[in-house]
Amino acid sequence: MSKAITHVGELVTWEPDRPVRHDAALVIVDGRVAWVGDAADVPPADEVIDAGGGTVIPGFVDSHTHLVFAGDRAAEFAARMAGQRYEAGGIRTTVAATRAAGEVTLQNLARARMAELRAQGTTTVEIKSGYGLDVDTEESLLWVASQLTPETTFLGAHVVPEGWTADDYVELVTGDMLTRCAPYAKWVDVFCETGAFDADQARTVLTAGVAAGLAPRIHANQLGHGPGVQLACELGAAAADHCTYLSDADVAALAETGVVAGLLPGVEFSTRHPYPDARRLLDAGVRIAIATDCNPGTSYTSSMPFCIALAVREMGLTPTEALHAATAGGAASLRREDVGHLRPGARADLVILDAPSHLHLAYRPGVPLVRRVLTA
Ligand code: NIG
Ligand code: FE
Repeated sequence: MSKAITHVGELVTWEPDRPVRHDAALVIVDGRVAWVGDAADVPPADEVIDAGGGTVIPGFVDSHTHLVFAGDRAAEFAARMAGQRYEAGGIRTTVAATRAAGEVTLQNLARARMAELRAQGTTTVEIKSGYGLDVDTEESLLWVASQLTPETTFLGAHVVPEGWTADDYVELVTGDMLTRCAPYAKWVDVFCETGAFDADQARTVLTAGVAAGLAPRIHANQLGHGPGVQLACELGAAAADHCTYLSDADVAALAETGVVAGLLPGVEFSTRHPYPDARRLLDAGVRIAIATDCNPGTSYTSSMPFCIALAVREMGLTPTEALHAATAGGAASLRREDVGHLRPGARADLVILDAPSHLHLAYRPGVPLVRRVLTA
């Protein structure tokens, strides 16, 4: 089965010699990009989709979300906007609501959020556990996540639950909880931050995850300068996410090791922290990804276009760099070669925008430009 997308005003493929084409077309065969070129040369196909002069971009790759939870924390957000500080302990509010919800409700909530992401152009999604913090609920969250995406992350070490010491809880996370969760997870993550887990505890969690066959990623340097980024580099993690507060040594370590810095501008928007300096990272040769971090505490947005617009306005990126970080950058963060670009061989995950250029994603913030989303 072949499909041609014709009359593409602008086509973003991220081909090295010609990342953005004009008056282009693209052919999909069996769910993969088979051909890209000038509209005038498009080969025949079983089905033709007319892009009407709009823009075609790779589907967004959201490399950091917490989609499986119940309840919301709108009141906490409102209090922050009135001057209160964000505290990691707010996570426990969502844990209580999530434990009370039951698996079917959680599944329905997560499905609805997936639909929201998809309607805004996201075609690959990473989903973490972390709002269960007991063995049964963490396993259930990961099972729900695994029904929605192959990019599932065990985040039992999100925060220490009430009634536990940190050391006892780390023992549970690296013992029974890991054993029960690992079959449904590809990645292991830990929130390495004051108020959550310190460097030694985080190292113990990630190392145990690796021994169980999971690959490491980390929440690092979100609320202040901390050891998380250095730990990510030491362990060869795929990604260090947040990276809001970085020393020069952190930036140098990221550049040297190739650990992807995941930038989550929805968090700075919603916590009133300063935005990370993406320009500084790119200039130092660090690979970056932009992700939503969709969660009820620090970033309840499912919109990658919103995050792209914030990254352009507040983090020093050009619109093209921001789109690259939200597609190819997300793919690098998830160590995926088949998504995040539209070169021949890629999965045919793409978005048709009602806009003459991808620049409009940042130029027209808040405007629903996604006309159609196709997946392989
Ligand atoms: O990525 N940083 C840790 N976890 C989430 C926030 C969780 C919450 O406040 O519910 C984050 O920002
Ligand atoms: Fe997060």
